[in-house]
Amino acid sequence: MPASPPSREDLCGSTIMIKGTFPIQRFKEIETPFYYYDTKVLRETLDTIREELRNNTNYEMHYAIKANANPKILRIISAAGFGADCVSGGEVRAAIEAGFPANKVVFAGVGKSDREINLALDYDIHCFNVESEAELLIINELAAQKDKVARIALRINPNIGAHTHSNITTGLAENKFGINLEQIEGVIEQAIALPHIDFEGIHFHIGSQILDMIDFVALCNRINELTEVFARRCYPIRSINVGGGLGIDYGHPNHKYIPDFHSYFDVFRKHLHLSQGQTLHFELGRSVVAQCGSLISRVLYIKEGTCKRFAIIDGSMTELIRPALYQAYHRIENISSDEPEMTYDVVGPVCESSDVFGKAVDLNATHRGDFIAIRSAGAYGEIMASQYNCHELPKGYLSDELI
Ligand code: LLP
Repeated sequence: MPASPPSREDLCGSTIMIKGTFPIQRFKEIETPFYYYDTKVLRETLDTIREELRNNTNYEMHYAIKANANPKILRIISAAGFGADCVSGGEVRAAIEAGFPANKVVFAGVGKSDREINLALDYDIHCFNVESEAELLIINELAAQKDKVARIALRINPNIGAHTHSNITTGLAENKFGINLEQIEGVIEQAIALPHIDFEGIHFHIGSQILDMIDFVALCNRINELTEVFARRCYPIRSINVGGGLGIDYGHPNHKYIPDFHSYFDVFRKHLHLSQGQTLHFELGRSVVAQCGSLISRVLYIKEGTCKRFAIIDGSMTELIRPALYQAYHRIENISSDEPEMTYDVVGPVCESSDVFGKAVDLNATHRGDFIAIRSAGAYGEIMASQYNCHELPKGYLSDELI
């Protein structure tokens, strides 16, 4: 049940971020709504990934900046030694400014503008993940103008479904991403022939919030089929990038706050056939940052409806759009109250019926001024905020700053 006192199960493994461990006294000094990031959770997550990859020296992690580009979060991740996966010139710049070395930056996206490509060429980033033949030709042309050679990987659309929300599935032939299987050989040959292109390898990404490892096994099988064909053709594949997508447990941010990285990396260790000298690249976003973040709001009003009770909070879909956009579940806790539970629809103040964080949520009895934590909001939260209704963009605070 949401917001009940932590059970033994909830306490097991960590005392981090459980109800009552938020620095509520410090929260009182801060204007709500805001994002709160528990750096212990983030660091433990990064350590877990590093530990997983310790024995696989040919594996490289590029954090997908799109999940959270708060500069303070980026600095912690770059200090942990990871690279960055970017999808815009702005993200490339944010990565470099946060200390990610340019030779660990990769740049994907179906619609890179000339300005963005030039910026990335100027930074000498590690690799462009190219999504079409047309883009390949433009990168070659822009690199020629600078007398440079651009390293590129070709993003292949593997035509694999993933058991996730349709808005965040990317690997089907009907999706706009990547180059189709039927066209890929022609584009590889072109990439090898172009004078200002250095063909580095292949790139995939099948979707996000994937919890069924079978989807990643299917990806490995498809990659193996392809690399066998490519080997016969003598295409030089130096690297394989499998994208991101590992999901998290939104239901249990307290006792399952570290995603199952072991099962995830094991899929690739067991199922993906790498040739001598090939490197394997990952672009995880959500699983790195989701569980460290909460959106903190204050309760404005309790309103008795005809058949339900509303807790109207000052946070809204403009700070966290995931529930409105994907009907996403986020655990909601009243971190100010220990009173017996009552049932509420937790809603924001925006003039849209979809501005609802949760329906029929059991919360400790809730009053005006209480703090509400919306959990697992570290990924695709702050970064997707908008200024709709002239709201100010939310600020993000690290637990380190609020001691
Ligand atoms: N690489 C590529 C090429 C991607 O498109 C994405 C995410 C990632 C890596 C990182 O995926 P992750 O490990 O975070 O699943 N706003 C949505 C998620 C959109 C994901 C877009 N691409 C949400 O809030 O659920």
